Amino acid sequence: MGGGAEMSLDDATEARLIAAARAAAVHAYAPYSDYPVGAALLFEDGAIITGCNTENASYGLSLCAETVAVAKALGEGRRGGLVAVAVIGLAAGADPITPCGRCRQMLNEVAALGASDPLVLCVGEAEVRRVRLSVLLPHAFGPSNLT
Ligand code: THU
Repeated sequence: MGGGAEMSLDDATEARLIAAARAAAVHAYAPYSDYPVGAALLFEDGAIITGCNTENASYGLSLCAETVAVAKALGEGRRGGLVAVAVIGLAAGADPITPCGRCRQMLNEVAALGASDPLVLCVGEAEVRRVRLSVLLPHAFGPSNLT
């Protein structure tokens, strides 16, 4: 399982990653938006780290699912090795959602630490949109800019 340029994971891995994102979304704390989101990060050793959106009564403090997953990954010592990401919104009839701008930057931090360009699976009810992080966040600012 490499971080290569191919535009898909094998079917079983993709299904496992999407299932993990969907399971994470079930734990979303989203009483204000009522828009549960789950994210799952796949690492090159096969490990998956998930996150869900975590809202706050002070609305602006809310955290997206991808940001929570990145914080968990960094907090568990992950530094690079990010192969793929799945993001899913559970709203009825949901179109595929792409990570918001802040989350793209958060994902880029982990990716850049291992010089990978993860495949982002944007999971909708009827469609999975597959796009590289570098396409979502071209000309990214990252750790190397500070050295
Ligand atoms: N949200 C995410 O968790 N990830 C995204 O990529 C887009 C938006 C969350 C933030 C907020 O809790 C809710 O979805 C509605 O914006």
